[in-house]
Amino acid sequence: MTTAHMKFDQTSDKIADRVRNLRSSAVRDLFAAAVRPDIISLSGGMPDVSLLPQRAIQKAVHAAITDERAVALQYGSTNGRLETRQALCDIMRDIGVRVKPEEMLLTSGAQQALNLLGETFLDKGDIVLVEGPTYLTALSAFNAYEPEIHSVPFDDEGMRMDLLEEELKRIGKGNKRLKMLYTIPNFQNPGGVTMTGERRKRLIELSHEYDFMIIEDDPYGRLRYEGGHMVPLKAQDDRVIYLGTISKIFAPGLRIGWICAPVDVLARISLVKQGADLCGSTFDQVVVEHYFTDTPWQRTLQKFIKTYGERRDAMLAALEEYFPPEASWTHPEGGFFLWVTLPKYVDTGSMLADALEAGVTFCPGDSFYVDGVTGRNCMRLNFSYETPENITEAIRRLAKVIEERLELYRAFIDAGAIKVPEE
Ligand SMILES: Cc1ncc(COP(=O)(O)O)c(C=O)c1O
Repeated sequence: MTTAHMKFDQTSDKIADRVRNLRSSAVRDLFAAAVRPDIISLSGGMPDVSLLPQRAIQKAVHAAITDERAVALQYGSTNGRLETRQALCDIMRDIGVRVKPEEMLLTSGAQQALNLLGETFLDKGDIVLVEGPTYLTALSAFNAYEPEIHSVPFDDEGMRMDLLEEELKRIGKGNKRLKMLYTIPNFQNPGGVTMTGERRKRLIELSHEYDFMIIEDDPYGRLRYEGGHMVPLKAQDDRVIYLGTISKIFAPGLRIGWICAPVDVLARISLVKQGADLCGSTFDQVVVEHYFTDTPWQRTLQKFIKTYGERRDAMLAALEEYFPPEASWTHPEGGFFLWVTLPKYVDTGSMLADALEAGVTFCPGDSFYVDGVTGRNCMRLNFSYETPENITEAIRRLAKVIEERLELYRAFIDAGAIKVPEE
């Protein structure tokens, strides 16, 4: 009798090589398994959409299903509805970026923009520079096109330009494989740090000297809780490719993002987008257009800023109160996240199960690096979604888990069972 052989994936021999290597992270799988209602989540990146005023939403949706129904339910242009692009160009002007609708292409969230940029510009083996750590799903979007991703560390002033320059020297001037540098200059995800004006200027100089495109991803720029506005890279150099989104200032359920780039660059991206989806959701575009033209959205933005600012303060105060002296963390002036660093010998990924048991989630640091190893002693904490009371409680629980782990490591170190790596 032969043993029955169960084949789980009937198409496993047909999968493209570049997809075969993509892996769902163990962390995501663990979160999916964690559905207990008492768990406080510091792991996501969600805005609190309960803060949105119902009347404004109703007004914008009403416009889409009554006044503009024929447009909203029909196919639209690949680059996006002109009136929506005009409305978004108007809100870009507030942050110092002057672009015309023909220099803007609407996407299904900034995430699609990342994918389109990868598909348009990256061949296998091309070089992409990113901050290390960086936005996890930008890495996934680029990785699908099999580039070499080089990480450049940041400090409290954003990406380290001295280390970038060293990396660029190693890559070499005139290296055709060097295509782009991806940065989140404001309240970086996951680091929470903001690039200084001086470093922005230097980055632009280096992009000319070494001939690479700058991709400026700016989902959090308007969510500033202290300090002054920083001029976007795009406002300083027209060649910069700027990515915007409504996800954090309005609603991520409406999938609207945008790419601002020179017209010839957009023409290429538009061709790729045709193959991806013909056009984005015209319904979403009409709703967004009306939200930003017919409702007091600036007032709602101020509500977001006030609420998230209070939540950030609650997290900073709780970290100060509960976290051990061995821990350090960034002090974000805005955005959704901060980055905690623990001693080198700690592996935060291995603490996740204990944290879940204690009723709190966080994102282990190694998920934000291409090598999946660097950042093991770090974690990303989100402060936008939970109430200040929940945040305080979550940090208290997490501190307990960390303290127990540190005690264990201390015992191992004292017994000589593990060597303390240099910090
Ligand atoms: C840095 C960064 N870029 C892009 C995105 C994707 O945003 P969207 O919802 O517009 O696709 C996110 C979402 O969290 C993000 O943090």
